[in-house]
Parts: sequence; C-alpha cells; structure tokens
Amino acid sequence: MLGNFVFSNPTKLYFGEDSLKYLNEELPKYGKNVQLVYGRGSIRKNGIYHKVAAILKANGKNIVEDGGVMPNPTVEKLYQGCRIAKEGNVDLILAVGGGSCCDYAKAVSVSAHCKEDPWKKYYLDFEDVDPDTKIIPVGCVLTMAGTGSEMNGGAVITNHGSRLKIGHVFGDRVFPKFSILNPVFTYSLPRYQMAAGFYDILNHICEQYFSGEDDNTSDYLMEGLMRSLIHSSLIAIKNPEDYEARSNIMWTATWALNTLVAMGKSTDWMVHMLGQAVGAHTDATHGMTLSAVSLAYYRHIMPYGLEKFKRFAVNVWNVDPDGKTAREVAEEGLLAMEHWMEEIGVVMNIRELGVTEEMLAGVVESTLIMEGGYKVLTQEEILGIFKESM
Ligand code: NZQ
Ligand code: ZN
Repeated sequence: MLGNFVFSNPTKLYFGEDSLKYLNEELPKYGKNVQLVYGRGSIRKNGIYHKVAAILKANGKNIVEDGGVMPNPTVEKLYQGCRIAKEGNVDLILAVGGGSCCDYAKAVSVSAHCKEDPWKKYYLDFEDVDPDTKIIPVGCVLTMAGTGSEMNGGAVITNHGSRLKIGHVFGDRVFPKFSILNPVFTYSLPRYQMAAGFYDILNHICEQYFSGEDDNTSDYLMEGLMRSLIHSSLIAIKNPEDYEARSNIMWTATWALNTLVAMGKSTDWMVHMLGQAVGAHTDATHGMTLSAVSLAYYRHIMPYGLEKFKRFAVNVWNVDPDGKTAREVAEEGLLAMEHWMEEIGVVMNIRELGVTEEMLAGVVESTLIMEGGYKVLTQEEILGIFKESM
C-alpha cells in the first residue's frame, strides 16, 4: 500500500433498534441549552421529534428550536442557525434528520463564533477553523442512510445566489461527538429518498475506489462494502421494512464515508463535483444528481483506469472475465451497475432533474475540477459528460 496517513475517528456510535436510549448517557456531558436542529416536518410525522424532545426534557435540557433545515442547506439558513446558537447560548447542537441536518449542524458549530464570514472563510477560501474559535459540540440522531455525515467532518452548503454548492471537510474537532443510528427510523423515508441514499453510498465508495494503482487494503474493504450494499438494497427496495437489509445499509453508509476506506488513496470525487454543480442549479436531491451523471463519467474515464474497472466488474458485479478483453469485462461491469441503478429506481439523466441545454454552460462553470482520479477533466470533457447525461 502506498501513502502515509493518520487515521483517527472520534465519533461514538450507538447502533440498533434501542439506540435512542443512549441519548440519556450523552446529554449529561453537555450544558443546559440544546439547539434542536431538524428538517421540514418528517420527524414530527413519524414521531421521532416527540421521542427526542421527551428525552431532552427528562434530562433537564432547555430546547432551543431550530427546525426548517431544507435539503441541501443554504447559506442563508446557516446565518440564521448561527444567530439562534448565539442568542440561545447553546452548549450542544443536536441534529435529528438526514445528511442535511447533520451537515448544517456542523456548519453552525464552527460558524456561530467565527469572527469572519463563514461562507467566504470555509467554503470559498477553504480555510480551517481558527484554533481559538469556539466549536459547539454536535450530536446526531440519523433518520436517513446515505451521506455518512454522522461520522465525518463534511458539511455541504449551497449558495443559490452564486450558484455554488460546496463541501468543506473539517477535521476531527468538528466530527459529531456521538451519533445514534436506529435503522427503524429510516423506514418512513419516501422511496425516492431511500433510493437516492443507496446510490449516494455506492458512489462514495466508487469515488475512493477509482484512484490509485497499488495493492491497497482499502480497495478490498470497499469491494466488500459494495457487495453488501448491492445485496441489501435489492432486498430493501422490495421490502423497505426488512430490518436486516436496512440495518446493513445504514452501517455500510457510515463506513463508506467515515474516512477509513480513503486511507492510502488519492480519491477521485469528480462525480460529486459534477453532481454538486447540477445541484447548485436545480436544488435536486443529492443522490440523484450523482446517479444522473455517473454512467457518462465512468464510461468516459474507463480507458484511463481500465485495470481497476475490470477488477470492479469481476469482484463487485461477478462478471466472468473468461475469453474477454479487459475492455469488454470493464464495460460489462458498468452495464451491471446500470441495471442495478434501474432496479433500485434512481434518476439516470440530468434533464429529469431540471437541466436544460441553455443551462449547460453555467453548470460547467459551477463544476470544481479534482485531480485525484484516473483523468483530470478539461472543461470540454465536462461539457461532453453533461451532454451525454441529458
Ligand atoms: O426535511 P425533512 O423533514 O428532514 O425530510 C427529509 C428530506 O426531505 C427526508 N427525510 C429524512 N429522513 C426521513 C425523511 N423523510 C421521512 N422519514 C425519514 N426518516 O428526506 C429528504 C432528504 O433529506 P436530506 O437530509 O436532505 O438527505 P441526505 O441525507 O441525502 O443529505 C443530503 C445533504 O448531504 C450532503 C448533500 O450534498 C446534501 O446537502 N452531503 C454530505 C456529505 C458529508 N457530510 O460527507 C457527503 C455527501 O456526498 C453529500 O454531499
Ligand atoms: Zn454523496
């Protein structure tokens, strides 16, 4: 394995059907004021709000309400969250929801006491949190499997004004202190969101897998995670309340993006850059922005990483390589992935997400170019991939 690295993950996880009760163990570690972050109503409908609020009250906490976090949280909402955190003098931010709530909570945690404009500092200039900036601790109760935000330092914020959707990956100090993962909480997800989450998980793994040519333990781990996801997703799509499948998926999502499988890898992340640009212009569901551009992207870069695509086909999709060229095997692998995507029901083109021909130049402009994958794209290639994805 090539590369030197430091691995550390400070997030404590509580997993399983009974895991919410552990909130009682975590809450006493923090002060009285808890900023309760949630989205646009799902946790009120499925009863999770009520359960969490009851535990907060039983622990003598003062709830500082911060609902209405939208999918793909905006910079305006971030500023509002900072005001709420400061006015409420909060000691803990508790996010109850999917990746959007967890990301937003982390963004508020580093921004509330930041002396500069957080959008400029963290998202445009990619600066770190100043050592003397107070970081408000974050805890998560996860209700959607996909982003891995429950055990990483990522916080993606969208600025519709400048048509930019940017992620900042913060360090250890910003990871959630604890996350509660109850697979049953994901049962109420609409099918569209469930499928988007499944694709997000697969793509997080692909983004890390399709880089490097050395023999790396991380690649073997990722092949196992992908096989488990494919297997469980096909069960869950037929029966969303299959606990075994949903719990495996939730666990896989966490490991797909909690930094472990990135060790020793340069990592690609170009599908996410293409998808985030689409998201910045359409506000579409994150996982669907990835599925809509993936096949065109992977078919385009396949010749530059042919051996890895062949390995992907054989080890992940069970393609029989006998008597076939490397290219034929690799293509069969991507075809198998395409069939799986159709089976789980993800969006396969950006037109369906609201992109029109007239928007393409702007979407290309919003795309950040990464350099860790098998091919550093030019703007012409990016345009070609978007056209292919229409
Ligand atoms: O608004 P609420 O009520 O929360 O409803 C949400 C939202 O409409 C709903 N939902 C969540 N759990 C539910 C539920 N509905 C019913 N029952 C439940 N149990 O689902 C919708 C989507 O939720 P959201 O949190 O937006 O989805 P997701 O978890 O996919 O998060 C997306 C955000 O995470 C960022 C994305 O860019 C996007 O902004 N990402 C964060 C990453 C990270 N931190 O590392 C990496 C990812 O690649 C991603 O970029
Ligand atoms: Zn993602």
